[in-house]
Amino acid sequence: MIVLTVCNHKGGTGKTTSAVHIAAALGLSGYRVLVIDLDPQSFLTRMMGVEEPPEAASSMMLFQQEVPLHAVSKTKLKEFDLLPASTGLTRLMRRLSKPTDVLWSKEALAEASSEYDVILFDTAAAITVYSLNALVASRHVLIPVTPEYQPVIGAEQTFQTSMMVQGKLNPDLEAPLFLFTQVDGRKRNHYQYRRYLRNRYQNRVLNSVIRTNAALATTHSDGTTVFEHDPYSRGARDYANATDELFQRIMKGEQPDVAAQEEALPVSQPAQP
Ligand SMILES: Nc1ncnc2c1ncn2[C@@H]1O[C@H](COP(=O)(O)OP(=O)(O)OP(=O)(O)O)[C@@H](O)[C@H]1O
Ligand SMILES: [Mg+2]
Repeated sequence: MIVLTVCNHKGGTGKTTSAVHIAAALGLSGYRVLVIDLDPQSFLTRMMGVEEPPEAASSMMLFQQEVPLHAVSKTKLKEFDLLPASTGLTRLMRRLSKPTDVLWSKEALAEASSEYDVILFDTAAAITVYSLNALVASRHVLIPVTPEYQPVIGAEQTFQTSMMVQGKLNPDLEAPLFLFTQVDGRKRNHYQYRRYLRNRYQNRVLNSVIRTNAALATTHSDGTTVFEHDPYSRGARDYANATDELFQRIMKGEQPDVAAQEEALPVSQPAQP
């Protein structure tokens, strides 16, 4: 079972859009996928047209003693299952203040592999007990990042947080992968920030990018994704390609990306005489 956290400490970088469309692309390929909405603001839940769930059918159940994931009822959507967020997450957060409270989700997911092939966590734009729970329960991290100043800073901080979690709480966690989102090829600063991250993080940056696309910005709130309502759009194609690349990378393990390394070399090489 693949467990992946989608996070960036900066808001509005395409986390929720990425979680939904990667889950949908995998669902369409036949994988059994669960998305867990751990954002107390519930945008993903609302985007999928799901009403405020009873707490017993929400992601709050991951934080109950002795409640394994299979015992919690999920919302069945067309391409994947959803464990929706409840507004009660905000209230619950105040009670989750012990150091061991970062371990709840990992315990709840312990026997989930008979039910799902892939579990994706969508997280809020902050370091909270929920995002830490997601990172502790995951092996993989995807950082969606718009190639602009604040999202890039947020992405680098998220990378640091993930490495801290790897060092102190979850040695199985792999270094995050970055996915550029809302890319506008006409903007010079987008080009510069893409180059900066690629040089710095090399093969941790996916080659596929998600361009700006009106079809992705339009919410349908009926549980469908761009793959139904606009399957030939750039958004559908970009997320299909990014999902392919992401999962090839995850499945293959760490294959060095020669092209990215070559691109980075000039930075560290002395100038030619
Ligand atoms: N590729 C894209 N093209 C156009 N609009 C996009 C694209 N990706 C996301 N958006 C829009 O940008 C906004 C922010 O996206 P999204 O909600 O996915 O970000 P987020 O990182 O989850 O935000 P938050 O931090 O608030 O949870 C949304 O209105 C979404 O529809
Ligand atoms: Mg979001």
